[in-house]
Amino acid sequence: MGKSFVAPEKYPEAVVKQQSSGSSISVSFRDDTMFHKLTEHGLVAEYPIRYQVGGGMEGSSFFIQLRNYLFESPLSWYNAFGWDLSPGYESRSVIEFERPITKECLFCHASRARFDDPDGRHLNGTPTSIGCERCHGPSGEHVRHPSSTNIVNPSKLAGPARKSICEQCHLEGNTRVLNPGKDWTDFRAGEPAEDVFTTFVLTGERQGEQIPLASEVEQFAQSRCAQMSKGKLWCGTCHNPHADHRSRAAEIRAICTSCHQKPSPATHPASLTECTSCHMPTNGKTTIAHASNTDHRILRPGEQPPDEGKKLKLSAWRQPRQNFQQRNLGIAELRLSRQDYQDLWSDGGDLLLSLGAPSHDDSDIVFSLTAFYLDSGDLPRALEFARRAVELSPQSAVRTLTLARILETSGADDKAEQQFVKAIALNPSWKEPYGRLTMFYVRRNKFEEAIKVLDRYLTWNPNEILFHEWRKQILSQENAGTGSRLPSQPAIPPTR
Ligand code: HEC
Ligand code: HEC
Ligand code: HEC
Ligand code: HEC
Ligand code: HEC
Ligand code: HEC
Repeated sequence: MGKSFVAPEKYPEAVVKQQSSGSSISVSFRDDTMFHKLTEHGLVAEYPIRYQVGGGMEGSSFFIQLRNYLFESPLSWYNAFGWDLSPGYESRSVIEFERPITKECLFCHASRARFDDPDGRHLNGTPTSIGCERCHGPSGEHVRHPSSTNIVNPSKLAGPARKSICEQCHLEGNTRVLNPGKDWTDFRAGEPAEDVFTTFVLTGERQGEQIPLASEVEQFAQSRCAQMSKGKLWCGTCHNPHADHRSRAAEIRAICTSCHQKPSPATHPASLTECTSCHMPTNGKTTIAHASNTDHRILRPGEQPPDEGKKLKLSAWRQPRQNFQQRNLGIAELRLSRQDYQDLWSDGGDLLLSLGAPSHDDSDIVFSLTAFYLDSGDLPRALEFARRAVELSPQSAVRTLTLARILETSGADDKAEQQFVKAIALNPSWKEPYGRLTMFYVRRNKFEEAIKVLDRYLTWNPNEILFHEWRKQILSQENAGTGSRLPSQPAIPPTR
């Protein structure tokens, strides 16, 4: 993990073509700098690659930096087969360097990543690879007076505090919700994660299929070894980040046999040199997905543990303090209900509404309820909550844009326009507010205004492709006087 966030390494040069967008992306090096060059619809965009993420396992992603904003390259390296499109880009009709890298992403992949806007997009400082303090806690005092009493030793912890050390990054869950007023970087090794955030995990069936246990953490929690060994066994028993694991099979075998001196001799001749091929098989995954590769349930071969039931259920991995339990669950349910799990919608809304008036000062609740009212078709309430959300977090471009869109839907054109402009000013790197304001003008046949918005973004980033296309389309519509036809490809990232 000491190489989790680095300058790009020396990968082979290549050209990758993509069918659905008719584009090609090339990788080249000049003066040791890696460049990704996108050629699409006769336009060219080339960026130097600033950071490489990962590489030791399935593959690497690559980030570009535009002023203080990071974006993912649409091209990734896969250890199994080389260069290809990044996950999620396979069938896109326009390929761009537009996927923002957020605070959440860097919380797990880097250290010292500071962001100074409430949406976690505006980078302040230079992130580095995962550092010692992520597992050992703040080290200032320890560096001045080295002693084992002023540094966290993970293996000496117990319970949630110990589990949280690896879970802060290895348990993504289906969503994670921060406690009021907290930020990811408030988490300190040695404390339970729930002092800062709650991780929520879905169980049950979705479209007739059992939702799989995605992570090593979830799988391991189901293993009889973990459940029955009274806390003796934890991630660090088998994974010591400081050991060199050259004779891995023997090392793991020694760990297993420290508890299982004599597994049934019929199936376990004394000559067995390893234990994992049957009890912790790998699924040989080759894509960069945040899912386990090695089965951490440590089962008897061929055995399946009992299902958790059919009903779709969202639960806290561990509960936070009593007074945050309903809040965090409600926010999580509403968030996931917008990503395919509509069943959770009314429950989440009911939970947050039951919290009553004090929640009107809690910016995350107010923002969640904005979406809830919008989805229930209660526009006046949605507007009231959107206004309040902006009042509570005036520097948030995400909230400002939501307000702009609700104002537009409510027919308050002038006010909507103001908020669109404000969202752009708050995060000039974010294409969605430009795109929506452009469409706002096109719908009102204000073509010149629309072009000005696109030009504003193109000044910020001349290397853009989609907006160049839009510009051409709008100019031709204006000349043909065809009125308010929208640009045909609003391939803008949706609001989170
Ligand atoms: C700050 C985030 C973070 C923390 C804390 C963390 N990991 Fe990781 N871990 C990662 C990332 C990211 C990778 C992917 C590899 C890479 O990018 O270097 C990884 C990779 C791994 C791997 C596989 C590859 C390798 O380097 O061996 C193992 C095993 C692992 N972690 C175990 C652990 C254990 C055990 C803990 C707790 C003691 C832990 N990790 C804590 C982020 C973290
Ligand atoms: C909750 C923490 C978390 C978040 C958020 C997260 N990752 Fe990861 N990521 C990990 C861990 C842990 C691993 C390694 C183990 C695994 O694959 O589960 C990993 C693996 C990867 C790998 C493969 C690394 C390798 O060596 O093969 C890439 C690439 C990657 N992540 C990119 C991203 C990007 C880009 C984002 C943000 C858009 C992101 N991750 C968000 C924790 C996270
Ligand atoms: C991914 C988590 C992780 C990271 C990052 C990490 N360590 Fe550790 N460290 C551990 C764990 C777990 C142990 C306990 C190993 C054991 O005893 O089984 C440990 C043990 C140690 C010990 C021995 C402590 C003792 O009392 O015996 C020292 C010293 C140490 N780490 C220093 C560092 C330094 C310096 C860095 C940064 C370069 C670092 N660690 C980064 C997880 C981590
Ligand atoms: C810290 C002690 C400990 C370690 C280390 C350990 N186990 Fe276990 N394991 C247990 C306990 C306790 C049980 C439960 C025994 C029972 O149910 O009677 C168990 C159960 C099992 C079972 C039966 C599972 C089932 O579903 O019935 C298997 C198989 C197993 N262990 C294999 C392993 C393997 C392989 C390793 C090494 C990768 C390992 N164990 C490491 C303590 C441990
Ligand atoms: C009983 C031993 C054991 C325990 C306990 C254990 N692991 Fe593993 N883990 C393994 C083995 C074996 C592999 C295969 C690769 C290797 O040898 O490191 C592995 C692989 C991994 C990988 C690499 C990706 C993958 O799925 O192959 C990650 C990440 C990881 N473990 C994280 C964890 C975390 C987090 C915990 C605690 C919840 C944990 N492990 C507990 C034995 C263990
Ligand atoms: C070739 C496949 C294979 C390998 C390798 C293997 N096992 Fe097993 N193991 C099995 C099978 C099959 C069962 C279930 C049937 C049984 O109980 O004999 C089992 C059951 C177990 C159990 C639960 C029943 C019992 O005997 O307590 C434990 C514990 C266990 N194995 C530990 C180990 C350990 C430790 C190792 C490494 C030294 C290991 N196994 C290597 C196939 C294997």
